[in-house]
Amino acid sequence: MIDINELAHRIISEKINVNVSVDMTSGNGHDTLFLARLSDHTYAFDIQTVAIESTRTLLENNNQTNVTLINDSHEKILNYVKEKIDAAIYNLGYLPGSDKTVMTNSISTVNSLDHLISILAEEGIIVIVLYPHNPEEIAAVVEYTSKLSPSYDCMEHKILNKESAPFLITIKSNKKC
Ligand SMILES: C[S@@+](CC[C@H](N)C(=O)[O-])C[C@H]1O[C@@H](n2cnc3c(N)ncnc32)[C@H](O)[C@@H]1O
Repeated sequence: MIDINELAHRIISEKINVNVSVDMTSGNGHDTLFLARLSDHTYAFDIQTVAIESTRTLLENNNQTNVTLINDSHEKILNYVKEKIDAAIYNLGYLPGSDKTVMTNSISTVNSLDHLISILAEEGIIVIVLYPHNPEEIAAVVEYTSKLSPSYDCMEHKILNKESAPFLITIKSNKKC
């Protein structure tokens, strides 16, 4: 069985030089830790203090000190990140084992994506993990990525015979080509 989070990490691992990365939804910190191990510096956003603290603990337990944790919405990314971004992950939805009413939504996700793309490096990559329980958010992300300029390659990675499985959308800048 394909582990979609592992696939997301594998796709990002193909990038050789990752100076700056962003975890747009830090949650329990698994994606943040993965990015931090790959990057010179990582930024991680979450609107929930409990998520930021959970991420902090995971990073400390793994002696990872190159992360800036930001307890704010990813929509505010341009207030915090001034460098070009080589790699970013969204893991949409709610924090596992926590309040399921606090979840990502189509408006803030697409707004943040628009800001993130404005600072994406040449050949930078964004990987988005989407869950079928939020069809409105899926529709918004698919619409947004389908209309991006051809200087980005937007792909869907989906298990066709498992309707309820999470899936990925990747956005790769090909501005150097
Ligand atoms: C599926 S969890 C992320 C899992 C995480 N990446 C991990 O490795 O454990 C989704 C997270 O998105 C966060 N979130 C929801 N809306 C957000 C927003 N506007 N900005 C940043 N984080 C948000 C939630 O608080 C939740 O922790």
